[in-house]
Amino acid sequence: MQIITEPRQMQAIAEKLRLNRQLIGVVMTMGALHEGHLSLVKLAQETAGIVILTIFVNPRQFGVNEDLHRYPKPFEKDLSLAKAAGVDYLFAPEAGSIYPENYQTTIECGALAERFEGALRPGHFSGVVTVVTKLFNITKPNIAIFGEKDAQQLAIIRQLVDDLNMDIKIIGAPIVRDETGLAVSSRNSYLSSQERNAATILYQGICHAARRVADQERDLRAIACEIEQMIRSTEGCRPDYVSFVDEKTFNPVEIAEAGKEYRLLLAAWSGTVRLIDNAKILG
Ligand code: PAF
Repeated sequence: MQIITEPRQMQAIAEKLRLNRQLIGVVMTMGALHEGHLSLVKLAQETAGIVILTIFVNPRQFGVNEDLHRYPKPFEKDLSLAKAAGVDYLFAPEAGSIYPENYQTTIECGALAERFEGALRPGHFSGVVTVVTKLFNITKPNIAIFGEKDAQQLAIIRQLVDDLNMDIKIIGAPIVRDETGLAVSSRNSYLSSQERNAATILYQGICHAARRVADQERDLRAIACEIEQMIRSTEGCRPDYVSFVDEKTFNPVEIAEAGKEYRLLLAAWSGTVRLIDNAKILG
């Protein structure tokens, strides 16, 4: 595995790979690698010849009161996990080479970014699409894999690629869960064991929704209220939002139509840790 820190060097390598007709797959991360990231690498290996993994904790997608400064950075561990996973190139730039002095450009998102994470984390998605675009330009991928865990991010990146005519195939990878159903996330490392137990209420909420819809309950708003109540009744937990949305537009849906697919979005706090989760639900 070759480690690269300079954008120009990464671009030169990617250019050469493309000239040699190699199919490049990219997996973008902020490090603190876990099973979820490794599943993205595996999917990239199955769909592309060369895998570039990026590790960059992007300051522009964190709000002022968010966890940028405590975001885990176990770089040595990440290196050995990436190497063991068979990553070909690891691109791990310094913040100064991605946002040099006098850096000025940001990409604005549209309606998809206005609700849910976008409403609660102003500027977050603009920071995400800006860095994703820069990393696309640096790694020149044919294919990019993003986790469905960040479902709204994935939808916004698909929109970005369509809107800006980027010739990149975006693949969504299924959520990886631990044995309790908790979706794996770098932020799970902040959870105490008590908070971790409590956090499984998100997955219990998803299971509750799947059961209620399977039992012919059509009122999705009512099911979302039940899940919010489940979260509120769990010690140390409080919901930010629970909502069923249209898979494409992310507009909230109140009544399910039989046979249609929806996405259930959840965001909640367990203690001081904010977690998000989601699932596809068949109406
Ligand atoms: O999903 C993430 O880890 C980040 O938002 C991403 C896509 C690497 C951009 O910083």
